[in-house]
Order: sequence, then C-alpha cells, then structure tokens
Amino acid sequence: MSGDGLARSVMARCDTLGGFSEEAERLTRRFATAPMREVNARVAAWMRAAGMDVRQDAVGNLIGRYEGRSADAPTLLLGSHLDTVRDAGKYDGPLGVLTALALVERLHAHDEHLPLALEVYGFADEEGLRFHTAYLGSAVVAGAFAPATLTLADADGTSMEAALRAFGGDPTALQASARGRADLAGYVEVHIEQGPVLEAQGVPVGVVMGIQGQSRLQVTLTGVAGHAGTVPIRLRHDALCAAADLILAVETLAFEMDGLVATVGQIAAYPGASNVIPGEATLSLDIRHHEDGVWGSAIETLHRRAAQIAEKRGVDLLWQSLQDNPAVRCDGRLSGLLSRSIEACGQPVIALPSGAGHDGVMMSRLAPIAMLFVRCAGGISHNPAESVREDDVAVALDVLERFVRRLAEERGGA
Ligand code: HGY
Ligand code: MN
Ligand code: MN
Repeated sequence: MSGDGLARSVMARCDTLGGFSEEAERLTRRFATAPMREVNARVAAWMRAAGMDVRQDAVGNLIGRYEGRSADAPTLLLGSHLDTVRDAGKYDGPLGVLTALALVERLHAHDEHLPLALEVYGFADEEGLRFHTAYLGSAVVAGAFAPATLTLADADGTSMEAALRAFGGDPTALQASARGRADLAGYVEVHIEQGPVLEAQGVPVGVVMGIQGQSRLQVTLTGVAGHAGTVPIRLRHDALCAAADLILAVETLAFEMDGLVATVGQIAAYPGASNVIPGEATLSLDIRHHEDGVWGSAIETLHRRAAQIAEKRGVDLLWQSLQDNPAVRCDGRLSGLLSRSIEACGQPVIALPSGAGHDGVMMSRLAPIAMLFVRCAGGISHNPAESVREDDVAVALDVLERFVRRLAEERGGA
C-alpha cells in the first residue's frame, strides 16, 4: 500500500510526459505525431522495467501486459489516453495510464502475480484533436473502428491513413486489431474529475456512475464573399454573421434545456481577410446531455434553427454529423467493488456522473467498465492550470490496488 513513493513517481512522470509537445510554449500532443512516438517510447520503457511485455498496435495504442499467476487467468484492462487537447494540462489521460502502471510496479517490486493478468493501455487518440474522431484508439481495441474515418483530413490536408503510415501504424490492420473479449474481467480507468464536485465535497476520489452522451458535428455556412467597402449592408450574405447567429442560438438552447451543454469550440472564416465579407464559415458543435432523448432532440432543434438562420440570411447550410456516442453506464458490480475499496481506504464514497467523455465509452462495448475520479484543483481541465495533489494520487493508487485484489479473488481465486 501507499508509502512506497509510487504516487510521487506518478506525479514526476506526468511532468515528464508534459514535456513532449508539438508546440514549444504549450502542451499539444495530437494523434500520430512525433511527441506521441516519444511518449510511447518513454512509457514503454517504464512498462518493461515493471516486468511487462509491451507492444504498440496498428493504430498506435501502447499496450503493456503483466501476466497473471497462471496462463488461463482472466485479464483486467486498465489505462487511459496519452494524446492531449491543445494547450492541455498534464493529467488528463496520462494520470490514468501512469497510475495503472504504478500498480503493476507495486506488484512487480515483490514479484507478485495475481490470479488476474493486467493489461495497461495508453490509447493513441481519445481527444480527437487532429481528426475530430473521439476515442479512435479505444475504438480500434473495441472493434468499433469505422474504416471511412481513414479518409478524414487534418488541418494540413493530411489524411488519417497517411498520418498513421507515417507514424509507423498499419491502416490495413485496424479492424483485425480488435481485442478478444473471452478472457476479460473488465476495464477500469482512473481519470481526473475535470469538474468541481470532489473538491466541493472535500473528497479525494469518487466512483463514476456513467458517461453522458455526446455528439460532434461540423456546420458550414456558405454566403457570398464581397468587398467590405462596396457591398451595402442590406445586400450582404455574410457567412460569418450567420455563424454568429447560430452560435448564440446554441448557447440560448443550452440555457433553455436543463442539463444540456453545447459548445462551439472551433470556427473558421473564409477567405479570412479583413476587407472581404466572409463567403464561408465553418464551426464545430459539441452537444451533450446525460439523457440520450434530450440530447437527440437538442440536435434536431439546433438543426431547425440553423436552417431558419440560413434561410433568413440567404446562405447555404451544410450540417454534418461527425460522431454520436450515446450515454454509457458503468457496471454496477465493478462500481460496487470500487466503492468498497474506497471505504477500505478510509474514504467516504461519492458517486458522480461524468460530463466528460472517456475511453470507457468504447471499452464498454468490450467489457464491463468502472471509473475512478481523482479530485482536481478548481475542477479545471483542458487548461494548463489542470492539477492534482500527490496525496490524492496515493489514495487513488491504494483504491485501485484494493479493487484489483478483490476482483482477482472474485474472478481468479485467492
Ligand atoms: O471531450 C471530452 O469530453 C474528452 O475530454 N475527450
Ligand atoms: Mn481524458
Ligand atoms: Mn480530455
């Protein structure tokens, strides 16, 4: 149990991985980029030193396996993602991978093998920053990869297929890279809460009840480009003004529908010159709610409002759904085991929903899932100010250890 300095090591390693970025002045680590290759190499070295067999799959997921006491032992999957958003914090993703690795180190330090094999995943792309495809890495493991996504292009026009080949992946082997499920005892992920609840309650960790549904869309409004100095205001078909109307309609609907969160995170105007009326505007839409019915109707409502705005302004509307992920419930039995492990560590049990998406959404297609949240300062995330406390990481590691030992007893015998 705690006191072996592993929590401190997890914090130091999060710092180390936070140094691998595509940008000098901030942390940005997209799918299939050089910093991802460096991070995989570094984590792979730590995994090998912990007695794990390590491999990288066709999409770039890093997978470390620590054998169980016997060859026929069931397997528990653990982990999280190693990619980041733009200008990210150091803990969203890596904390889950490194806490799971620290548990293996704790066992390896005593040459202990449980009646449960452990597989730690560092997923290649959870955020979808490069191709807007959330959960790409875990989708491949879960056998839910959609081949059509290989044709998606990033901001530089590089296709996912080309990016993956350049990274050393194998686009032709993605569907064959799905993991079998016969030996699985479940999937468990440790992740920062990315919200204020645990801090407000003064509690270090919490059990996740479920992950809310989310949709990602891209909206393109096409008007008429023109001279900023000569086209009278009443004769314009300004695509960016239409986008502005839509952005406020998105926010208005979120205020109207209790529990709905709706975000326009990206917007681009074309041709993007100060003296040209924008002929085209493209914006991203991220729509979420914990009830799938509400989330679905919100998207329909926004689509109608977008069509009305386009009609009024004489612009064309292209409404593209990129991804729909319905809400996912965490497994009751595994979550109960996690709760009892928290109690055994002398901590109160808080159960809470996840507003953020996680690889558990995809892994729930493969095995029952459980998630453990760790308190983060101010609930801040997707922001370089993201931070956790070492003593909370120590609690999370102890809870994870008790959970794994209890599951091993249940599934594999003492
Ligand atoms: O968008 C999310 O909820 C997660 O951070 N990918
Ligand atoms: Mn995350
Ligand atoms: Mn994230």
